[in-house]
This record gives sequence, C-alpha cells and structure tokens, in this order.
Amino acid sequence: MMELIFATNNSHKLKEISAMLGNAIRLLTPAELGINDDIPEDFPTIEENALAKARYIHRLTGRDVFADDTGLEIEALGGEPGVHSARYAGPGKDFEKNIDKVLEKMKDVNRRNACFRTVIALIKDGGEYLFEGKICGKIIRERRGSKGFGYDPVFIPDGYNVTFAQMSLEEKNRISHRSEAFRKLRSFLLKS
Ligand code: IMP
Repeated sequence: MMELIFATNNSHKLKEISAMLGNAIRLLTPAELGINDDIPEDFPTIEENALAKARYIHRLTGRDVFADDTGLEIEALGGEPGVHSARYAGPGKDFEKNIDKVLEKMKDVNRRNACFRTVIALIKDGGEYLFEGKICGKIIRERRGSKGFGYDPVFIPDGYNVTFAQMSLEEKNRISHRSEAFRKLRSFLLKS
C-alpha cells in the first residue's frame, strides 16, 4: 500500500479526504509522526502556500507528502478573501467571524458570484506537482445548514439550491473544489 503524508492539522479536511480514499493509499498526518509545528502558510498565492506546506514536511521527514490550500474568491470583492480565507477576520481563524465579515462587506452587493479554488501540491520521489480543483456558485445573504466548515453555510454551488452546509459529506465530496483536486492527485498516484 502506498503511504503518503497529508500535511494538514485540519481534522475537517482529513475527514473529507479520507472519505474519498480507496484501499491503495494510506494517509499519515504530521501529528502521527510527532510533528506538531504550526506549518507556515503566509505566502501571497494559494499555489505557493500549498507548495510551502508540502516542502516544510518533506524537509522534516524526507517522505512523499502532499498539502492543500484553498481560497474563496468572491468576484465583487476583487477575489477576496482568496489566499486570506482562513484569517479574513483576524488571526483566530474563526469561521463565524469570517462569514460575518463577508456578509457585512456584501450587504449592498447584488453580484454574488464566488468560487472555491483548491491547489494540492505533491512532492513524490523528489518531484513537485500541482493539481487544481474549482467550484463556482453564489454567496447567499444568511447562513443555511450546519454541516461542513468554513464558508459552507453561505455558499450555494451553481445548479443547486442548498448550501454546502446542507449537503452530506458524500454529496459535497461529489462536486467540491477539494475533491476535484484530490481526484486528479489520486489518478496521478495510481498511474505512477
Ligand atoms: P486552507 O488554507 O486550505 O486551510 O483554507 C483556508 C480557509 O478557506 C479555511 O480556513 C476555510 O475558512 C476556507 N475553506 C477551505 N475549504 C473550505 C470548504 O470546503 N468549505 C468552506 N470553506 C472552506
């Protein structure tokens, strides 16, 4: 079985990705390997952030590793919160405050288009690879649903009339930005 480190401390992400794994790949986390560092992710693009996180864990372990970074890109806010999605309302990474800030900034805005974009960076046998996934939709004016995490309660994907937070994990995984990037990663790994 292939072993791969997923360079994250986010239990929500781990749950989402683990639910999509077949038997061919076993995921390890930095914590399982005794690494509890706050992995730096303060670069100006999500591509650089994903690569930096993967490189950080690769340097410490020498093992194959991947990391993801995601941004919510809202058209009417010029692409914000984008790379700042986690800490949009301050360093506390508070999901509720982040949503409040978005809703406040968009209270007089009718153009509600937004996309989640994920980039996964893989380091395998010393080579570096990037995989992207994206889903577009609308930011609604009030929260709906209690599943998921982050901005899920205010995001309705195009073609749906429920938010990510109203979907089961399986439904979200069928269409989400992270699952698209992950499927590309998985098919690359299974071919190589
Ligand atoms: P990260 O840098 O990949 O951890 O993601 C940055 C931030 O984007 C997270 O803290 C969440 O607020 C938000 N985010 C990432 N993925 C999702 C998602 O699937 N749904 C809702 N929000 C997300």
